[in-house]
Amino acid sequence: MAATVLVAGGLGYIGSHTSVELIKKDFNVIVADNLSNSEFFILERIEQITGVKPIFFNVDLTDKIKTAEIFSQHPVDVVIHFAAYKSVSESVKEPLKYFHNNLSSLINIIECMKDAKVSKLIFSSSATVYGQPEKLPVTESTPFQKALSAYGSTKQMGEEILEKLTAAGIINAVSLRYFNPVGAHGSALMGELPIGIPNNLFPYVMQTGAGGLEQLTVYGNDYDTPDGSCLRDYIHVVDLAKAHVMACDRLFQQKNETSCEVFNIGTGKPTSVLEIIKVFERCTGVKLNYKIGDRREGDAAVVYADITKANKVLGWKAELELDEMIKSSWKWELSVRQS
Ligand code: UD1
Repeated sequence: MAATVLVAGGLGYIGSHTSVELIKKDFNVIVADNLSNSEFFILERIEQITGVKPIFFNVDLTDKIKTAEIFSQHPVDVVIHFAAYKSVSESVKEPLKYFHNNLSSLINIIECMKDAKVSKLIFSSSATVYGQPEKLPVTESTPFQKALSAYGSTKQMGEEILEKLTAAGIINAVSLRYFNPVGAHGSALMGELPIGIPNNLFPYVMQTGAGGLEQLTVYGNDYDTPDGSCLRDYIHVVDLAKAHVMACDRLFQQKNETSCEVFNIGTGKPTSVLEIIKVFERCTGVKLNYKIGDRREGDAAVVYADITKANKVLGWKAELELDEMIKSSWKWELSVRQS
């Protein structure tokens, strides 16, 4: 029998792509989202792509009574928790907002799961837990560095909460540590919808290329890297979504080896900011207006994943290349501008 997955934050960037991949693999999907950083039309887009409209709850996951109603109305096998704030810069200015939302939603969900006797949880973690790593590539056992932002703290604390709860036998959890999620659905019906001026490289490049922003600043070309700009591990959001489907399968079929598993989700390939610009220009035929600026405070020179564990244990491997990440992001950017 197909498992039912509650996707908390299922209309957001990664949540919507995951909902599509889950439906494609015949999971029943229930989406809960408070539309704080997502749009209602994405629910229809999920239906357009898959032919299935998920059950939808407009719920703030910090509201325990409303969250509990989902569990009382529907049997749930696995929960995937995407419903968190994600702007690093905003979290530095408004740390309380991040601690409140990201931690209380996680605790609420787990309390509701416990009451409803649901034991399987997938948590959206991030490579941000590693901070500025001393050794590369980073493996799952690379120690956490002190978080530089409240956002980073909430990811570290989230993982710690899961460690303690799984040790106490309350839940089984899989944390997926995302590197740099980019790209959009191949149909151009879904993608990232940043609020205001984006902080992250990909949406900034796309909006500059399309004329919505004037100029991209490359944050530093004097790092100790081959071309002087920072290296990151960019991962296509559809590949990332598929990693969640595999994690669901793993928990549902009780194939997890321990009650608290952690996987790095990246490609394992470092790419520089200047390379991204080159590939963007080659794939789109658009010349990008950019300048070299100062380093951005808090940026690590190089971060990329050791993905051996995800490959061997989870059985997942990234399939989509950088060209595909750029082309799908560009197609999505153009479609957003036309609508
Ligand atoms: C950031 C977050 C990370 C989060 C991830 C989500 C920090 C310290 N980390 O990672 O926690 O999980 O986003 O995707 O903020 N760059 C430019 N010009 C720009 C924007 C970015 O040169 O206008 C460069 C940055 O210096 C960096 C690379 O592009 O080298 C990627 O930056 P970004 O997309 O912001 O991601 P991260 O900083 O790696």
